Amino acid sequence: MREAPSRVVLVGFMGAGKTTVGRILARRLGYVFEDMDRRIEAGTGRSIAAIFREDGEDAFRALELGTAQGLADRTRCVIAAGGGAFTRPATRDALREGATTVWLRCDLEVALSRIALDGSRPLAGNRDIMRALLAEREASYSMADATVDATGPADEVADRVLALLRGRVGAHRR
Ligand code: S3P
Repeated sequence: MREAPSRVVLVGFMGAGKTTVGRILARRLGYVFEDMDRRIEAGTGRSIAAIFREDGEDAFRALELGTAQGLADRTRCVIAAGGGAFTRPATRDALREGATTVWLRCDLEVALSRIALDGSRPLAGNRDIMRALLAEREASYSMADATVDATGPADEVADRVLALLRGRVGAHRR
């Protein structure tokens, strides 16, 4: 079987399953898994919610950019990006460099069914706010190298990503 690209970045909206699918994918590929949000929390010793509350979104986006740049030389790695990371041009560029980027695409209802509106995701407001945010972001997500339907069980989504990656070897950017 053909080998998958060496760095895979999963992008998409909150609730698309980037973390859950990313873990499964990394295990199947024998790659390391990295979650950008968890790296930011580990690096700062604070939760995402606390960073937004205490320092604001711009400070969080700066941390996100630094995290993306810090992961840019990784090989044999699957990265779950935060839902806003790919909408910021500099962060998007860092994530795309030498990687294959995949948009896990799902509709609003699926996303909402998967996330708790408990404050842990500061931008996850009510349904109308989420609908507007998703609509605003789709053009950015569509800049990923490929799109995969993220509806359904995570292991099936991971199967779809894997099939796609194995068909794309050699096609990813240097
Ligand atoms: C955000 C999504 C979150 C996290 C932060 C901001 C966003 O990541 O980075 O709350 O702007 O959509 P997930 O997509 O992993 O929930």
